[in-house]
Amino acid sequence: MRRDSVEPECGMANPGPRQGQHVPVMLREAIDGLAVRPDGRYLDGTFGRGGHARALLSRLGPQGRLLLMDRDPAAIAAARTEYADEPRVAIRHGNFASLAEWDETAAGLDGVLLDLGVSSPQLDEAERGFSFMADAPLDMRMDTSQGQNAAEFLATASEQEITEVLWQFGEERLGRRIARAIVADRDATPFTRTGQLAALIERVVGRREPGKHPATRSFQALRIRVNGELDALHAGLGAALTRLNAGGRLSIISFHSLEDRAVKLFIRDHAGRVQGSRRGPPVAAVAAQLKAVGKAQFPSVDELAANPRARSAVLRVAEKLPAGDAGDLR
Ligand SMILES: C[S@@+](CC[C@H](N)C(=O)[O-])C[C@H]1O[C@@H](n2cnc3c(N)ncnc32)[C@H](O)[C@@H]1O
Repeated sequence: MRRDSVEPECGMANPGPRQGQHVPVMLREAIDGLAVRPDGRYLDGTFGRGGHARALLSRLGPQGRLLLMDRDPAAIAAARTEYADEPRVAIRHGNFASLAEWDETAAGLDGVLLDLGVSSPQLDEAERGFSFMADAPLDMRMDTSQGQNAAEFLATASEQEITEVLWQFGEERLGRRIARAIVADRDATPFTRTGQLAALIERVVGRREPGKHPATRSFQALRIRVNGELDALHAGLGAALTRLNAGGRLSIISFHSLEDRAVKLFIRDHAGRVQGSRRGPPVAAVAAQLKAVGKAQFPSVDELAANPRARSAVLRVAEKLPAGDAGDLR
């Protein structure tokens, strides 16, 4: 099935649920994928507003433990308010790429959930600078406590670098033209507002895709670059694998073809590699650490009707194998 590689979230004609309210995507499928054990230890690395975390916690018994992370301070503040009196929950502000540095994960994990991308509150709160639908500071950082924001990136990056970001993360065919215009204009007027950047892109690109704002691709690409989203995903998957117990599950929801590809390849690369002659029995040259559980899953028609923001979601589930397992090669 072909999926749009560009998230439709920012500036969609039909934003779906109420502004600022995050409706969890593929909720049942993602939690079922974890095969939750009531006394298990789970990590939700992308708390957001806790839709998945709440469902996960409801499947845990008194001995279960739920670890929550998010790099957005506002998401963590919401988690701390919600779970102030919940002894089964531990909370940490940070990038899931560093989950193995959290001592709470040292005891091993029975499941890791990642629901990638941005939350509705991030998109809908204009001041965060993710959306071109309202004029606001050009920030786009999920973690507002550190790092370079989008305005700073556009003020310092070369034309070539901006072109590559727009193409690689947004498949923006007119990326070079947009980058050239940004670099030509920025000395006279630095790009500090979302409205300013959206207007420039519209001027350069024109209205070419019906129903889609001309800045959709560029805003998505900048967001992915500013937040280092693909690097975080690679590091987070590796860290999760080191902490998963045998039989533990990964349940990962992606919204972009590059993310989904990274997840798919990660699972495949850790499923062991076949070596040996064509006639002889297959031999695992690299020990298998993971096996895919089922195929990629997509939102149901009903979910898509109720929540258009689920449109490009893809869920993949994998299970950690016991050491020495030959995976699916036998
Ligand atoms: C799609 S939302 C998650 C929504 C959540 N599952 C819910 O039901 O409310 C993605 C969240 O992940 C966070 N996030 C994205 N990348 C992250 C990373 N590398 N480390 C930690 N949090 C991240 C974002 O700040 C955002 O709050």
